[in-house]
Amino acid sequence: MTQLTRRHFASLCAASAAAALVPLGDAAAAAVKRYRLRPQPALVPLLGPGAPETRIWGYNGRVPGPEIRLRRGQRLRVEFENRLGQETTVHWHGLRIPNAMDGVPYVTQPPIPPGGRFVYDFEPPDAGTFWYHPHVRGAEQQGRGLYGALIVEEYEPPRVDRDVTWVIDDWRLTDGGAIHESFFNPMDLSHAGRLGNVASLNGRDSSVFQVRAGERLRLRLINTANARIFALRFEDHRPVVIALDGQPVRPHEAEDGRVVLPPAGRADLILDMAGKPGQVSPVVDDYYRFSYTFLDFVYTSAPPLRDSPLDAPVALEANPLPEPDLANARRHDILLAGGAMGSMGSAILNGAETDIRELARRGKVWAINGVASHRIDMPPLATLERGRTHLLAMRNDTAFPHPMHLHGFAFRVLARNGKPSRYREWLDTVLVDPEESVEVAFVADNPGDWLFHCHVLEHMAAGMFATLRVA
Ligand code: C2O
Ligand code: CU
Ligand code: CU
Repeated sequence: MTQLTRRHFASLCAASAAAALVPLGDAAAAAVKRYRLRPQPALVPLLGPGAPETRIWGYNGRVPGPEIRLRRGQRLRVEFENRLGQETTVHWHGLRIPNAMDGVPYVTQPPIPPGGRFVYDFEPPDAGTFWYHPHVRGAEQQGRGLYGALIVEEYEPPRVDRDVTWVIDDWRLTDGGAIHESFFNPMDLSHAGRLGNVASLNGRDSSVFQVRAGERLRLRLINTANARIFALRFEDHRPVVIALDGQPVRPHEAEDGRVVLPPAGRADLILDMAGKPGQVSPVVDDYYRFSYTFLDFVYTSAPPLRDSPLDAPVALEANPLPEPDLANARRHDILLAGGAMGSMGSAILNGAETDIRELARRGKVWAINGVASHRIDMPPLATLERGRTHLLAMRNDTAFPHPMHLHGFAFRVLARNGKPSRYREWLDTVLVDPEESVEVAFVADNPGDWLFHCHVLEHMAAGMFATLRVA
């Protein structure tokens, strides 16, 4: 108990002021976890010692921002103060919380001006691996380092030796180690988004991760990149996937030891460190044509923690998700179109049919059901009857993959290209490949206007978003 409380204080930005807010031993206060978040510019040793520091924007001046950690059933209260020179908000990605706390400017709250404050206060219903990020000029704000992990612990987590969060990102840096200022450029908007040239793990150039032989890790992977899809191949190890996008999934070995993470995607893995003391074993990212070593597991010289892998169950306790009633589902067809090398000739922009050249001039080159969105408080794409099951049938008619994300819900992935999905996993962000069709379903139990968008932040900026109204 004391332990927990201490860790809580340590994670606060201004520990002394915060201590006054949560008196020790106060049972009612213990049910509320309090954090302060202040996005601000800061210098960090992104490229490691000896290299020039990088000026980033980070929550509390760090990247990633503080890891917010609470237990299932705890309430979270975040006192937020904007120390950036521009408006912002915080979105709690993957959390099924009331619409008013969802952090979408003009839709769920006014943007928070420079110097402004806001209190986010909610109780997440699900245990799992989630994260937070701004929802104003995301391509730039998140691209400069504004993001952090949000972990909700199970009542009874599986037994592991270490519970480790890997926040994975990539950065586009100049030779001098500064963030490249090329945000929102037409090439990134119309192609694969802002891909970086340096991969990072927890805000540092990724290279080495120390492990001990025989230990069991729970790895919580979170992809916070603007656009990069990671496919991590755990060469000599056999990761078991226990959750995707924070939601438990039937435990299964990752195919070929490879875990694909689209932007905003998460995966919880159980990893038994089966190597020998002193061994070095790479984790390779091979999603794109050129693979590279994301990092090396480096085994310490310590003797193995145990002789054979820990014999303990790895399945997670269920979250209270409403099961879709497929027999009575409403179907909504969703066509993704546009972009470079696509076949879209025109789309509706601001109420007018607009041809692709003009769309390109206006930086709005992607469309959902024929509409290139230009402002976030658009009329909804569809109104979903509350309490009912809805099936989104997405089809990608573009030359690029799109990680499609719905706020406020987790959906079951039913089928890809008409073929039932193997695990019927719950996701909040589903990667839809070029020419692919994906069907997902969920119960619309949470009222409000919810954003639905591509999580390649440049695609969102260039029109690939919409709102779904649940009423
Ligand atoms: Cu990570 Cu609109 O979300
Ligand atoms: Cu979200
Ligand atoms: Cu996209």
